[in-house]
Amino acid sequence: MPLEDLIPQLTDTAYSLKDVEKAFLSRGGTAVKALDGVTFEGPEGMITCIVGPTGSGKTTVLRIVSGLERADRGTATINGKDPATLVRKIGYLTQRHTLFPWMRVCENIALPLEVKGVPPEDARSQVAGICARLGLAGSGDLYPHELSGGMQQRAALGRLLASESWYWLMDEPFTALDERTRHQLQHLLIDLVRERKLSVLFVTHSIDEAVYLADRVVVLSAGPGRVAESFDNLLARPRNRLSQEYGQVMERIRTRIESVLGEEE
Ligand SMILES: Nc1ncnc2c1ncn2[C@@H]1O[C@H](COP(=O)(O)OP(=O)(O)O)[C@@H](O)[C@H]1O
Ligand SMILES: [Mg+2]
Repeated sequence: MPLEDLIPQLTDTAYSLKDVEKAFLSRGGTAVKALDGVTFEGPEGMITCIVGPTGSGKTTVLRIVSGLERADRGTATINGKDPATLVRKIGYLTQRHTLFPWMRVCENIALPLEVKGVPPEDARSQVAGICARLGLAGSGDLYPHELSGGMQQRAALGRLLASESWYWLMDEPFTALDERTRHQLQHLLIDLVRERKLSVLFVTHSIDEAVYLADRVVVLSAGPGRVAESFDNLLARPRNRLSQEYGQVMERIRTRIESVLGEEE
């Protein structure tokens, strides 16, 4: 099947959350509300960034969207479907890579191809293509611990590419990296989204990261998490961090987060 046939036709909405509520039991046995009526949509083929302070429920949103966690009330769908029915189309990436330490980089990337039963010869050439695309060409034979943090995340992206998942749920995947590496990977992600028509839900507590990456920004307020604001980020790409417009969008998010935090004090 040609690759184009495997890529879904873009419809309007990839991610849809309606009135999602979630509470957890604290150690003391009382219920702590993590999300309170969270509603937003993330468009197909684009990057939606959820930005908010620690504890605002960002990870909980991703876990519910991935199907790992159930909402107490409300619905979360991907492409109009229950996420549990789309498991193989969903890629999940966190701050710490989830590569298998006993496998070489190329074996890690090849894993989803092996699971699918792709013949070894094809798999090898696909992995070589993915490594070349991600700047890992010389690193395929190394083990994850032999790579820098940035290269480890590149390899983790490689495994997502090999898995043919179109819905990428990313939980602060670049937060632990130094600034230069983080910027390089942000740039790479933007290119991959365009090339592969990925729909990304990207969680970050960095306002700058949200402004740089997002086509749509969803600002979550803390305790319990609510959508303080959601808007389309229309800054032209490539985005210039030093431009006045960039600073204005940063300020818009910062002010929103601060006004919500202020209300709670
Ligand atoms: N499994 C869990 N058990 C108990 N409380 C949890 C659990 N997961 C999250 N929480 C609580 O829910 C709130 C939101 O957490 P989380 O989604 O991790 O926020 P964020 O990712 O924005 O930092 C926090 O108060 C956190 O302590
Ligand atoms: Mg989190």
